[in-house]
Amino acid sequence: MKIISSALELKQYLREQNGTIGYVPTMGALHEGHITLIKEARKSDEIVVVSIFVNPTQFLEGEDLDKYPRRDEADKKICELAGVDVLFMPHAKELYFDDEVKVCAPNVRGYVLEGATRPGHFSGVLRVVMKLLNIVNPTNAYFGKKDAQQLHLIELMVKHYFLNVNIVPVDTVRDSDGLALSSRNVYLSKEQREEALKIPKSLYKASSLVSQGVLDVEEIKEEMLQILKPLEIGYVAILSREFNVLQRVEIGNTVILVEALVGKTRLLDNVWL
Ligand code: PAJ
Repeated sequence: MKIISSALELKQYLREQNGTIGYVPTMGALHEGHITLIKEARKSDEIVVVSIFVNPTQFLEGEDLDKYPRRDEADKKICELAGVDVLFMPHAKELYFDDEVKVCAPNVRGYVLEGATRPGHFSGVLRVVMKLLNIVNPTNAYFGKKDAQQLHLIELMVKHYFLNVNIVPVDTVRDSDGLALSSRNVYLSKEQREEALKIPKSLYKASSLVSQGVLDVEEIKEEMLQILKPLEIGYVAILSREFNVLQRVEIGNTVILVEALVGKTRLLDNVWL
């Protein structure tokens, strides 16, 4: 496995390779969710590139960028074992410029749900993903459905900026107890983890209501809120795959999203129906 930290060197190196490039952007502290994205790339693409970059522009003021878990040495081993060809670990100094030209999140879809709790977060995500996609120039780029709004906004950016990349959504990987894997789960105590399980439980409930023919969005939300009590809820939303509001669930075109606070840890989860 080659480890490269210079963007220009990576561009040059990849230009000399033949074959399709599968790319998995990450912020490190790799877990089974990230590894599943890498495995998907390994299955379909000839060259697999992973990046680890804790992107400062997607952290808002007061959000602790310095506390984000960093495990470079373990991550390198994980990538090596997962069959990654090139690991890109850039420095912020090299990716960002003074008085920079910026892409930013759309005014509506970038500022609802996660974007309402973290205004400006998605502009930071899109800025870095645009840069990373242009450096790697992949055939396929793999993103988790776990971060459904992020995935949706990246798909919009690819469409609106006519980028030459195929975005591949990958199903959410869960722990055996049902909790979606996340780098933030390490912050949960044993008791908090029990509480956190209300999140996937509320989503299973929603899926089972839909399979029983209950399609009314308000009715489903109400049942979910009962299960989520007494967690502090950021949002429970039932939207179309295009992130438009629905009155009734449309099977094959619905995503149900939850954000809840467990202790101080904000957890996200969703289910695609
Ligand atoms: P990070 O949180 O490291 O996630 C990297 C990728 O792993 C994202 O596409 C995310 O959706 C996916 N992922 C995380 N948990 C997952 C799970 N349980 N199952 C499946 N996929 C999962 O998302 C980011 O980094 C950053 O915002 C980034 C896109 C790299 C831009 O900085």
